[in-house]
Amino acid sequence: MSETVNGNSITLQDNGSQKTLELPLISGTIGPQVIDIRKLYSETGHFTYDPGFTATGSCESKITYIDGDEGILLYRGYPIEELAEHSDFMEVCYLLLYGELPTAEQKGKFEHDITYHSMIHEQLTQFYRGFRRDAHPMAIMVGVVGALSAFYHDSTDINDPHQRMVASYRLIAKMPTIASMAYKYSQGQPFMYPQNRLSYAENFLYTTFGVPCEPYEVNPVVARAMDRIFTLHADHEQNASTSTVRLAGSSGANPFACIAAGIASLWGPAHGGANEAVLNMLEQIGSVDNVAQFIEKAKDKDDPFRLMGFGHRVYKNRDPRATVMQKTCHEVLEILGAKDPMFDLAMELERIALEDEYFIEKKLYPNVDFYSGIILRAIGFPTSMFTVLFALARTVGWIAQWKEMIEDPSQKIGRPRQLYTGPTQRPYVPVEQRA
Ligand code: CMC
Repeated sequence: MSETVNGNSITLQDNGSQKTLELPLISGTIGPQVIDIRKLYSETGHFTYDPGFTATGSCESKITYIDGDEGILLYRGYPIEELAEHSDFMEVCYLLLYGELPTAEQKGKFEHDITYHSMIHEQLTQFYRGFRRDAHPMAIMVGVVGALSAFYHDSTDINDPHQRMVASYRLIAKMPTIASMAYKYSQGQPFMYPQNRLSYAENFLYTTFGVPCEPYEVNPVVARAMDRIFTLHADHEQNASTSTVRLAGSSGANPFACIAAGIASLWGPAHGGANEAVLNMLEQIGSVDNVAQFIEKAKDKDDPFRLMGFGHRVYKNRDPRATVMQKTCHEVLEILGAKDPMFDLAMELERIALEDEYFIEKKLYPNVDFYSGIILRAIGFPTSMFTVLFALARTVGWIAQWKEMIEDPSQKIGRPRQLYTGPTQRPYVPVEQRA
């Protein structure tokens, strides 16, 4: 097969059959052009083969743009650094869902509507009691969020735009309540009901760390840091969990089930589970004196150890979220007066790795998860809650992507093909004749 690029198309020549096929090149608003291969199979009888989707665009989207070489991340065109500095999570949710920043009036109404959906059906609280107290909170999240479809029947018709919107608001609003209840259950403490006077981030801190027997004052710096962490994690285009949500949703499954699928996909240590894995790794390294030895382990092809919080499929430059996260980490530790040796260890690990030829050559930089765990630990979250926080924040991104897919007229059920390398057809052998 050989190819020639000419203007807005690319011509493939099958050197075996000598057939040629002209495939259109499509341009987005920014980013590289893509080759539209939809006719490839019907015209040539060939599929493409791209395990891990390293060169495959699965959909058209207007939500998030990443330039991995330049370290750029835009939500609806706005740079993540500007949103983290000047905006807040509720505004970012509105932006991701509706495509534009809200007016003051729209913002007020959106915040009000989200706030007034934050309680969960009381019967759902019984659900938690079925789990062991030592269950991983991500296991509880997968179960409880999936179970929402059994409680909110009036928002599972995906063909009704109003129901889609109600389900979206419910998911964004209830996720902090569900997440903090998972934490409370693990602690053996009573569940706390959200308070409508509090903001989204404040409510999450209150329902997580408050107890009914005394007042809980939310630290504004911590609430701001929490809000910023949510903003930084809100969306990241077609990663594993978002693609999972889209794929699950492409069959017409209801949004609660789709988001539960996304949570399951996020859990793995190569994706959202990395923030938990970073802290476990730092604890394993233990001291600055051991950094060099662990860097060598990470470089050893025969050792499965990887530097968690380093590297990214798309960023071949610094992850812009990591830069904001590192700054926030400084601020939070300073305000809380917390001296965390893990932070010094992380800084040293980062410094040494960034000077190392292996990491330079492979363009491995710290990603968003490298510093987030240290902030979350300083705030008081146990390591097992880190990925839950990621899921909470990413819910809006999943929902925006799911809605965009459902509303796309060219949407079809996702159905990849395969390169089959198993046995060719053979006759069934009765058990008594098998060797
Ligand atoms: N430590 C050591 N070597 C690494 C690392 C690492 N963290 N990441 C990649 N490499 C090496 C890898 O061994 C490979 O080397 P070679 O070409 O010699 O085989 C090369 O770099 C390319 O790696 P890859 O695994 O082919 O790249 P990928 O795009 O498939 O993987 C990744 C991306 C994020 C899964 C991977 O970098 C990784 O496992 N990082 C650690 C886990 C982590 O921090 N994940 C969070 C990602 S950011 C949050 C999110 O979006 O979920």
